[in-house]
Amino acid sequence: MVSKKVGWGIIGCGVIGPTHAVAINEVEDAALVATCDVIPERAEAMAKQYNAAHWYTDYNEMLKRDDIDVVSICVPSGLHGEVAEAAAKAGKHVFTEKPMEITKAKIDRMIQVCREEGVKLGCVFQMRTVAANIIARQTIQEGRLGTMVLADCYQKYYRSPEYYKSADWRATWELDGGGALMNQCVHGIDLLLWMVGSPVESVVAQAEHLVRDIVVEDTAVALLKFKNGAMGVIEGTTSCNPGQKARFDIHGNDGTIILENGQIVQWHVPDMPKPEIKSPKEAGEVYKDPKALSKHGHIVLVKDMTEAILHDRQPMITGEEARKAVDLILAIYESAQNNRRVYLNN
Ligand SMILES: NC(=O)c1ccc[n+]([C@@H]2O[C@H](COP(=O)([O-])OP(=O)(O)OC[C@H]3O[C@@H](n4cnc5c(N)ncnc54)[C@H](O)[C@@H]3O)[C@@H](O)[C@H]2O)c1
Repeated sequence: MVSKKVGWGIIGCGVIGPTHAVAINEVEDAALVATCDVIPERAEAMAKQYNAAHWYTDYNEMLKRDDIDVVSICVPSGLHGEVAEAAAKAGKHVFTEKPMEITKAKIDRMIQVCREEGVKLGCVFQMRTVAANIIARQTIQEGRLGTMVLADCYQKYYRSPEYYKSADWRATWELDGGGALMNQCVHGIDLLLWMVGSPVESVVAQAEHLVRDIVVEDTAVALLKFKNGAMGVIEGTTSCNPGQKARFDIHGNDGTIILENGQIVQWHVPDMPKPEIKSPKEAGEVYKDPKALSKHGHIVLVKDMTEAILHDRQPMITGEEARKAVDLILAIYESAQNNRRVYLNN
């Protein structure tokens, strides 16, 4: 039996950092040791609010601590790789926000360094922890829909002009790595690929900034050809007002599953009634902080990462898994920029 708690540090105390703090505090075998942000007030405030005994403005200083086993990387996306490398070289496991990084070279490097240093690399895609999505995936992969025909994902979100001004890294190629697809829709693109379980062979796409004053896309459409023969559509935007529920339409020649925001809205599967799905609350999931329920996905993933460290196994979402959505988004951008079909090397 292992008695020691897994010590966590959080690097980046902006919008998503506190969600990691809540999640770490909810997990029995995890302890929040320290926070870090280049803005001292943010690091200090988050440490105080979530009972971390230490706070830093330089992550290299924080990484010297012996009582930190793993770090949550919650800095702008295009900095994940360099922080991960420093953490891995300091012997810390790495748990990173989505997208894991924004270029293939930086993703390759991240995976390689973590492997060389013998640390685990876990990534966040909380849609994978939603019960309906898990059941849909399992049903699809058991072949219950028959020959796959169409697998579509529609993510029509709204982000205000103020959102884009809320931090200067947002909607930049250098640090956000793109717009609606790389930042927001990467969640659903990951989920689509995970549920279908077949890589995308080629893509034809269009991506533009239609209404926001940004250099990256606020709207994109892509036509997919999967290796298993199916076709699909990705529509992603941050400029639809009002934003819509994220929708996934999966059709085979025997059956159909349609999901909206993690709810089954259509279930037509031969010899399989629509599954009864309980919310985490109905399923008896009890959190120390009642407000933590909305952070369920992060809690599941932090718990999984903690257990992966304790039991020396791979985390639920490895770097190899998390890169798939980014690789597809980069192919979509390449297709849109060069006005041609792009083949992926899966
Ligand atoms: N899983 C989700 O649902 C979700 C939601 C929001 C953001 N994210 C991801 O989390 C990451 C952060 O996004 P955000 O919205 O919280 O950004 P943010 O700008 O609100 O916060 C980032 C923080 O990192 C700090 N920072 C920047 N460079 C640093 C450095 N070198 N060392 C320490 N701190 C540094 C900034 O000062 C800032 O406080 C992004 O990759 C984003 O895609 C994921």
